[in-house]
Amino acid sequence: MAPMVGAEHGLTAAEIAKARPAAEAALQGFRKSVETGEYGFPHLPFQTKLIKDILAYASSVKGTYDTVCLVGIGGSALGAWALDCALRGPHPVQGTHSAKLPRLVILDNVDPSFILGALASMNPKKTLAVVAAKSGSTAETVSAFLIVKDWLEKGAGKSAKKRIVCVTSEGKGDLKVLATGEGYRTFHLPDNVGGRFSVLSAIGLVPAALIGLDIRGLAKGAAEMTGASWKPDLDVNLALNGALHHHLMLTLRQKTIQVAFPYSNRLWGTAFWFRQLWAESLGKARNRKGELIYAGQTPVAALGSTDQHSQVQLYMEGPNDKVYTFWGVNKYADSGRIPKGKTGLAAFDYLGGQTLAKLIRAEQVATAAALTANSRPNNTLTLDRVDAAHVGAFLQLMEFQTAFMGELMDINAFDQEGVELGKKFTFGLMGRKGFEKYADDFAAYERKRASL
Ligand code: PA5
Repeated sequence: MAPMVGAEHGLTAAEIAKARPAAEAALQGFRKSVETGEYGFPHLPFQTKLIKDILAYASSVKGTYDTVCLVGIGGSALGAWALDCALRGPHPVQGTHSAKLPRLVILDNVDPSFILGALASMNPKKTLAVVAAKSGSTAETVSAFLIVKDWLEKGAGKSAKKRIVCVTSEGKGDLKVLATGEGYRTFHLPDNVGGRFSVLSAIGLVPAALIGLDIRGLAKGAAEMTGASWKPDLDVNLALNGALHHHLMLTLRQKTIQVAFPYSNRLWGTAFWFRQLWAESLGKARNRKGELIYAGQTPVAALGSTDQHSQVQLYMEGPNDKVYTFWGVNKYADSGRIPKGKTGLAAFDYLGGQTLAKLIRAEQVATAAALTANSRPNNTLTLDRVDAAHVGAFLQLMEFQTAFMGELMDINAFDQEGVELGKKFTFGLMGRKGFEKYADDFAAYERKRASL
């Protein structure tokens, strides 16, 4: 706010008050779209039957695998990564995997060394594959899945089909056709839930349940946040309040970059999930009236305190074009006591007997204070603890905030034409039938490039 960072970079109370009616209109506008069934993510925490079915499936296969191999990309991978990292533990220091504590391996790229390295690290007789794609046709997912399917069939024989579970749209897409033909256990996500808003649908919940995470707790926290996100009171509705502030920061103070700055390795996956949510939802060429606006706020993920030693020099002294959102944690399962002991060295002895939790908190608030002193606007969200209920609430908070931000920007936050075009060029280049036009367009681009 202006009293902390000055009016050139901070918002004034008068600006916030003036924008309140727009925030109320954003709430009503989004509520209407949800009521008409256009957008469905707010309903996901209340899908009790789905949650029951997923848990029943997870318990029926429990003990038959030590690794869950998720084949998916974008919204079909990042949610599961966020949940795994937050609730099973940060990478690469998760507990050893076993049939009792399965790990999650996410194949979300088609770098051959990555896919082949992943296969080499897994045992087909102890692996359960989840293939997840809303469209059922994403080239990376389909090709990685064909490799995993073949690997399972060769390595696990007849039981391979039982080692594959599919998450896709109901009644459309080639993955659905394949899954039905092969008899794979299949879960669906609703048509009105976009990929990056699907973490609390079967897309995120199936892998989460299979590695033993508390998906009921996730839904409980998300349901509570959903209730708060429909309230008009900005003190209760964190999502609307956040969207309002970020919209003003973007439009009145030209803060075109938002740094998501978790001070928790457990929330590092969530920062990458958020990066997709904010970028793909808000980066749009046109507004709803069809006017060219080239809007968006570029999300950056930085890890505290690690990136203090990598990024903060730029944040402190570089262009003042960013707003910083610190994600803090109140209580850690173990505060990490630093052993006492006298070394006689000034850099060592003051730390003895204190805790890592205290130190990381000090690093966080010190960085916020330093940025503030340099007129860099920032805000802080604190999770009381990183457990299923708080993570579920946090994910739902970010999704509502994104939806409200889209309303305030008067854009469609739920489409992704830019992503779709790239997919079509890839289909053309890889020879998919029906996409010859994109192969021709690409050839024309190559000719032009070569002629210069
Ligand atoms: O948010 C989105 O819709 C996209 O980022 C998709 O999640 C991504 O392209 C993957 O799509 P699919 O699930 O169809 O493979």
